[in-house]
Amino acid sequence: MAVELTVDGEPIVVENDRADLLTVLREQCGITSVKDGCAPQGQCGCCTVLIDGQARVACVTPVRRIAGRSVTTVDGLESTERAQWAEAFASSGASQCGFCTPGIICRLSALRASGIEPDNRTKLDNALAAHLCRCTGWQTIREAWVAFGDSDLPSLTDAAAQRAAIEGGTPQAVGAAVALGRGGFSADTCPADALVAVPGSDGDWVAAPTLAEARVTSGKVQGRRTTAEASAPIPLPDGSWDLTLQTTWVEPAALETETVWCPPGGEPSSLLENGGAFGAKIDLQDELGQVARRLADAHDAPIRLVLSREDSVRMGTKRPPLAAGLRADGTGVVHVARTDGVAAAIASMAPALDVVEVDVPGPRTSTSLRGAGWLEAAVLIGALTGTDRIEAPNGGVASAVVVDGVIRVQVDAGEALDETVLRSYCIGAAHMGHSLVTSEQLHVGEDGTIGDLTVRSFGIVRSADMPHVEVEIVASDQPAVNGSDAVFAAVALATWRAAGLPPQWPIGQ
Ligand code: FES
Ligand code: FES
Repeated sequence: MAVELTVDGEPIVVENDRADLLTVLREQCGITSVKDGCAPQGQCGCCTVLIDGQARVACVTPVRRIAGRSVTTVDGLESTERAQWAEAFASSGASQCGFCTPGIICRLSALRASGIEPDNRTKLDNALAAHLCRCTGWQTIREAWVAFGDSDLPSLTDAAAQRAAIEGGTPQAVGAAVALGRGGFSADTCPADALVAVPGSDGDWVAAPTLAEARVTSGKVQGRRTTAEASAPIPLPDGSWDLTLQTTWVEPAALETETVWCPPGGEPSSLLENGGAFGAKIDLQDELGQVARRLADAHDAPIRLVLSREDSVRMGTKRPPLAAGLRADGTGVVHVARTDGVAAAIASMAPALDVVEVDVPGPRTSTSLRGAGWLEAAVLIGALTGTDRIEAPNGGVASAVVVDGVIRVQVDAGEALDETVLRSYCIGAAHMGHSLVTSEQLHVGEDGTIGDLTVRSFGIVRSADMPHVEVEIVASDQPAVNGSDAVFAAVALATWRAAGLPPQWPIGQ
């Protein structure tokens, strides 16, 4: 049965009343500002739109339930309001990759229309609880909420994109358009007539004219969250230790799941079109690009390869878990999941530690992920020596302390280039460091099977639970280097120290 709706002021007819609203908006209406970060889990908030003015996640909204109603995406907000939100987010550094931002803007638009005061932090945190952002650490989003409507907002400098590329590790768009979801993601730039391929249950790929058909044909059961707690998979090395640490599997959890498209006889798009998820997307780039090229040639048609959230968790690489015992003089032993380059990464920060790689059943691990190996080593040595200063391998220097519940960060990243962008990445990195130590984990069974397949099960710290972060940028005329990786490690150290150095991460909030 056909369903009639209004989308951004235009009447539309949906022939399939079993379709979900996200699919209709993206695939039928071509509205790519509405993002798919976890469909059909309904947990990330990236697909949030307004239905008769109320914020709703589109991926779990069947169109038959909203027949005759009015849907507004970020594109359909009144033009002045839309521009004000975009400027508020850009000038606050509240949007990095921008994948989460259109959905957040829709929710904040509804919140503002409800008449709450801009300083009502509780209501704001409650609203943001329906969303996940992996880049910004929430604080700059709260600042954008307050800045909305200010007619005198500062602009980003011409060097903002340069600073973003240094911090993100890949070229990255900046500015108001990014906040409106126009960062240029592969899923949004693909030709509309491309076939869609998804992983099938037998290990091969299933191609179909639409994403919905491909997913139905693949017959995959959607991801779940296990009720079991994650545990440290590697026992501590034998010995008498003054400091120990055991970590567990950690999912990088980029909000944009991996998507790549390729024309027949052509080159695949990049997984890193607007942000590389701090290294998380590097490992699958070649693998998925080759599959896209093979399928495009086999079908003689453009192919869009799409990983769902559970596909992304199953296929993507993880932070290698480890177990370390240290003596007061800095010597000791680290047992770490076998991972290319991890011994060198640990040795770069803690040369007196013996590193033993061990085989642990579980997902693939990688040192491409931000700070993998060297962060843990730097934090262990920092905890032993009493320093709060971290010098990252890529040149940045940061220190961090927790004082009265506030995380105070100082960063030297050479020439700042653009203070708004540098501060934004440092606050995002502070969130990631705090979150890594307190909350993030991925359940993996003894047989190596991943138990947590939903985006809410990875432990990303919510807005309400994130301490305030103060960032001091050290003035410098030295060449610009990455500063946020050092902040990531320094805040992990400060958070662990403030909690009394408990022997396992995550330590709990
Ligand atoms: S895509 Fe709908 S909530 Fe994540
Ligand atoms: S800006 Fe929020 S996920 Fe990237």
